[in-house]
Amino acid sequence: MDNRPIGIFDSGIGGLTVLKEISEQLPHENIIYFGDTARIPYGTKSKETVIKYAFQCIKFLLSKDVKAIVIACNTASALAYEEALKEFKVPILGVIQPGARATNSTTRNNKIGVIGTTSTINSYAYQNSIRALNKNAEVIGVACPLFVQIVEDGWEDTDVAMITAEKYLLELKEHEIDTLVLGCTHYPILRYTLSKVVGEKVSLVNPAFETAKEIKSLLKQKDLLSDKMEKPVYKYFVSDDPEKFRRIGGNIMNKNILSIEKVDIEN
Ligand code: SIN
Repeated sequence: MDNRPIGIFDSGIGGLTVLKEISEQLPHENIIYFGDTARIPYGTKSKETVIKYAFQCIKFLLSKDVKAIVIACNTASALAYEEALKEFKVPILGVIQPGARATNSTTRNNKIGVIGTTSTINSYAYQNSIRALNKNAEVIGVACPLFVQIVEDGWEDTDVAMITAEKYLLELKEHEIDTLVLGCTHYPILRYTLSKVVGEKVSLVNPAFETAKEIKSLLKQKDLLSDKMEKPVYKYFVSDDPEKFRRIGGNIMNKNILSIEKVDIEN
C-alpha cells in the first residue's frame, strides 16, 4: 500500500479529461496535476523540445513525491514516453498504448481514424501501435491542431468548433471509418461536435478511459494502491495563468478547482 499521490501532467487543461477518468476509477487516490500552460501547445514542437519539457514536468512531479506518473498529453506520450521510461525509475504510463488497445476492441470494419496534434500524427505512434495489435487495420491519421486552441478558449460548443471539425474530418468521412480515436487530451471536450460531424454510427475512443483502467491495474500489481478511505486531495499546478485554468478547468471537471498554484519548472 502507498498513500502518496499519483502525478499527472499535460501541456494545459486538456489532461483534466484524464484526471476525471482516473478519479472515477480510483476515487481514493490523491492526485497532483501539472498543466504546462505557459508552453502549450506541445503539438507543434519538435521531438527534442517535447522530451525536454516532459522531463521537466516529470522532475517537478517527482519533487512532490508522487508514486507513479501518467503522461496525459498525447503529444508527450507519442514523443517522450520511451525516453522517459529509460530515464526515470518511477512507474510511468502514457496514453498511446491504452488508446490503441481500446481502439482494436472497438472497431468492427477495421477502418480507423486517428485525430491528434501535428506532432502526434506525424510520429505515427498511434498508427503503428494500432497496426502492431491488428495487422488488418487501415489507420488514417489527420492532424487537427486548431482544436487545442478552441478548447483552451472554451469555444467547444460554438459554430467555430463545428466548421473547423467539418473541414478536418472530411477525409475521414470519405474513408467510411467506424472508429475515431480522440488522440489529444483536449478532444474529448469536443465529443459532441465531433460526433455530430462524423455521425453517431462512428464510435469515439477516448484513450483516457483505458489509461485510467491501466494505471489502476499497474498500481495494484505493484502494491501501490492507497488504503485511505477518506476524500482524496487534488492539488493543481500550472506554469501560467492559474485563473484561466481555474475557470475553464472548473467547467471540464464540473466542480470548483480550489488548490492551484503557479510554478516555474524550467530551472
Ligand atoms: C498539445 O499540447 O498540443 C495538445 C495536447 C495533446 O497532445 O494531448
